[in-house]
Amino acid sequence: MSGSKKRVVVLISGRGSNMSALIEAAGDPHYPATIVGVISDNENALGLRAAEANKIETKTISKAEYPTKAAFDDALDAELVRLGADIVCLAGFMRLLTPAFTEKWAGRMINIHPSLLPLFKGLDTHKRALESGMRVHGCSVHFVTAEMDGGPVIAQGVVPILPGDDGDKLASRVLGVEHQLYPLALRLVALGKARMESGQAVLSGVSAEGALLSPGSASDEVDIQSLARMTP
Ligand code: GRF
Repeated sequence: MSGSKKRVVVLISGRGSNMSALIEAAGDPHYPATIVGVISDNENALGLRAAEANKIETKTISKAEYPTKAAFDDALDAELVRLGADIVCLAGFMRLLTPAFTEKWAGRMINIHPSLLPLFKGLDTHKRALESGMRVHGCSVHFVTAEMDGGPVIAQGVVPILPGDDGDKLASRVLGVEHQLYPLALRLVALGKARMESGQAVLSGVSAEGALLSPGSASDEVDIQSLARMTP
């Protein structure tokens, strides 16, 4: 399917474990997307080293070199265009993008966030979920709009909040599901099965379970049955 694969650029600021999950998924010849580049705003991002190890082109665009947010975003846009990006995946990219930029890439840019949106936008999501008294927590992949963590949700993964959990334990349980969810959601977008229309995420040709990963309450394992149903 290589001729029809979507070209994806991943934006990171740090560890890059979600980026690595996307790279691994895209290694499957049947996956509908290929990772053509990784861009960071932080030259020390660990994920850059992982991308290089996978022979993926990397680039750092540091904010210190650009006087304004708009100038930074113009440089980012130019790099995405140069790489021929069809889809942009934000994966722990810690910069707010300008409305002009998000508008240009609307419907073609997605983000992963470690909460069940619209709950817990922003930072410290795991601590806030614990403090809230919720019995479940999770992660969401959504189309990016000008509102931080506010774009329409494509897919979500749910984990239980267990007795004895602290922020680190919960974060680690959620991260395991993030690594399943992001490849699933990118697959939907690359196949055109998830689209943004009139500010809504519209799914087609997807079973209801296909956009929700729910681990069994007795274990932290992801329900791979719902992943299997995603096969086009
Ligand atoms: C993840 O928890 C992601 O949901 C959030 O930032 C974190 C990035 O982790 N947006 P990593 O860099 O992918 O390991």
